Order: sequence, then structure tokens, then C-alpha cells
Amino acid sequence: MTATIVLGADHAGFALKQICLEHLRQLGLPSEDLGTDSAAVSCDYPWFAAKVAERVLAGDGLGLLICGSGLGMSMVANRFSGIRAALCGNEFSARVSRQHNNANVLCLGARVTGQDLALSVLDTFLKTDFEGGRHQRRLDLFEK
Ligand code: RB5
Repeated sequence: MTATIVLGADHAGFALKQICLEHLRQLGLPSEDLGTDSAAVSCDYPWFAAKVAERVLAGDGLGLLICGSGLGMSMVANRFSGIRAALCGNEFSARVSRQHNNANVLCLGARVTGQDLALSVLDTFLKTDFEGGRHQRRLDLFEK
């Protein structure tokens, strides 16, 4: 896939965000970094989750949100109608979040998921397509 990947993180997710950015660059995939810009300065994850959610809703890209646990980012992102944020700590979850749930934001917990696994989860998320069919019928019920 070649859609832009929009990244956001808080201080706890900053280092892993930078690793993901470099990984995407090496793969030749377009990315957009919406911050934060430092691990040393404590910040509030909801601002970054909101920025990424709004950017994903405005375009056709996918989001990547990283905080310490991944939980806060996923909670905030999922408050935005049209965002389907999936907190994934393994490849199976990443695969089915795309195949079945058409997730448009991947959340990672930098204090939970190691770097190598995080990159593998990201790769799985990016290379997997939505299967549609009965899964689309179920997604349609989200807005009811
Ligand atoms: C920051 O300490 C931490 O609370 C945050 O990164 C995240 O894990 C919240 O869900």
C-alpha cells in the first residue's frame, strides 16, 4: 500500500515513533510526523491522538499512534467517528484488525511491545487488506 502513514506519539512513544519513521523511510513508504518531538518533555497523549485522527479522517491514509501502553491513544482515537483504532501487540491482531475491522489507525504500546515485534506488527498492519463482505456489514453497524 502507498497511502501516507500519519504518526503521532507522546513522550513515552517518541523513541519507538522515530524507529517506525526510519523503518517506513527505508521501505520507501510516505509518512507524516505530527509529533511529539522529544522523549524528555512530558506531554499529553490526547492532543496527538486527536491530531492524527483528524488527519486520517481528512485523507485516505492510515494512522500510527504510540504511547506507553497504547491504551490512551486508542481510547482517544476511537472517540472520533470514522476512526477504527486497533491496539495490537502481536501480528495476528494486526492482521485481523485490517481483514475484519478495516482498522485505519494502529496503536502500539512502547512500554509493552519491543522494537522488533512492533516493527513486525506495523509491517503486518500495512500489508494486510480489508476483506469486506460480511465484515463491512458489521462495520456499518458501528454508526447505528
Ligand atoms: C504516560 O506516562 C502514559 O500514561 C501514556 O504514555 C500512555 O501509556 C497512556 O495511556
